[in-house]
Amino acid sequence: MNAPYDLIVRGGTCVTPDGIALADVGLRDGKVARIGDLASAASGQAFDAAGLHVLPGAIDPQVHFREPGFPDKEDLQSGTKAAVLGGITAVCEMPNTNPATTTQEAFEDKLRRARGRSWCDIAFYVGASPENAEELPELERLPGCCGVKIFMGSSTGSLLVEHDQDLARVLACGSRRVAVHAEDEPRLQERRAIAEAAADVQAHPEWRDVECARLATERILRLARAANRPLHVLHVTTAEEIALLAEHRDVATCEVPPQHLTLTAPECYARLGALAQMNPPIRTAEHQVGLWRGIADGTVDCVASDHAPHTLEEKRRPYPQTPSGMPGVQTLLPLMLNHLNAGRFDLHRLVDLVSTGPARVWSMEGKGRLTEGADADLTLVDLAARRTITNDWIASTCGWTPFDGMEVTGWPRATIVGGHVVMRDDEVVGEPVGELIRF
Ligand code: DOR
Repeated sequence: MNAPYDLIVRGGTCVTPDGIALADVGLRDGKVARIGDLASAASGQAFDAAGLHVLPGAIDPQVHFREPGFPDKEDLQSGTKAAVLGGITAVCEMPNTNPATTTQEAFEDKLRRARGRSWCDIAFYVGASPENAEELPELERLPGCCGVKIFMGSSTGSLLVEHDQDLARVLACGSRRVAVHAEDEPRLQERRAIAEAAADVQAHPEWRDVECARLATERILRLARAANRPLHVLHVTTAEEIALLAEHRDVATCEVPPQHLTLTAPECYARLGALAQMNPPIRTAEHQVGLWRGIADGTVDCVASDHAPHTLEEKRRPYPQTPSGMPGVQTLLPLMLNHLNAGRFDLHRLVDLVSTGPARVWSMEGKGRLTEGADADLTLVDLAARRTITNDWIASTCGWTPFDGMEVTGWPRATIVGGHVVMRDDEVVGEPVGELIRF
């Protein structure tokens, strides 16, 4: 006689590595205990998933939650609430907070802040700087750390590793995969006058042009290869980088943001103004085609939202004083489900991009696959639901999304973290039960 389950998710269509089939999922002690026919099994609770697809929990491996430093934009509680409302069960949070996460003290402060306040599982990046390179091997091993993040080009905050000799030093310190924001700082500085002169956000992709991104990606690939260090190129935005990365699969993984798969320049800037401003920028349809090619041929390992909330007040400043970044953790999955419905990829590739891929890139333990023994993180989606994304639905403190008014097909209906239902039908329920991701 089987021990009873804490929760049985009944009658959903389960997307597992072995195939897609109707099954019950029995959860016990925070793990997936059994996938199969559990009609006669007892459980503390049951969730009727008839008509829904059951996916391994979706992961957003790049979010900026602004705590400590900018509570008017976001904090760990509001950011993780937004995550679970969007069907996300785990996030990796970026180090450009204030103070920046460049020391053990700042890192442990984030762990303390997350305790009992996170609605989904969470891990934190450590920021690299020319000053902390020698400490990185120790910092990247701290529990709850997903790895080191390098800003090669300046964006929000002051984190920056600009010169080849400093980049080489950072790459030589430590062994885990390093995440890189690849925009070339000297070229960004050289071209800043373009943004100043234009005083119009339409100039954003011209200032931070294709060559800024391509050059930085080429430089970091060369340096990583020389250092024999695995690399992850964050938010790839150009067709040129996809072609380059396809030739360097042995040393580098990469991600693209759903925003860049969905919006195109110049239309997005005309319609959304600075709400469409992020780094690296949204680019033309030609580059979007290149990104889709990378999705189709397997060059792209995962998607990530680069969730980067700023207040509407800041976004109303004259360009280029407007900050770069847009919220995205809550819309990542709805956008990807919409692309699935448009026939851009199949259900297995969707799961690979939003769950298996990020878990593989960052070597997450227990995540990324719906299998017995995995963490009990599930995302339940209705593939046929037609919904409109609206600002009202957004839980981020910033209170807006660039996708306000967009109709999508496919919607997250429930989020289960560690065996606990934390979102059901657009409502956050229960407690913030999120734990640290294990690696
Ligand atoms: O647009 C962006 N915003 N890109 C980044 O790299 C940083 C982010 C932020 O933190 O605002």
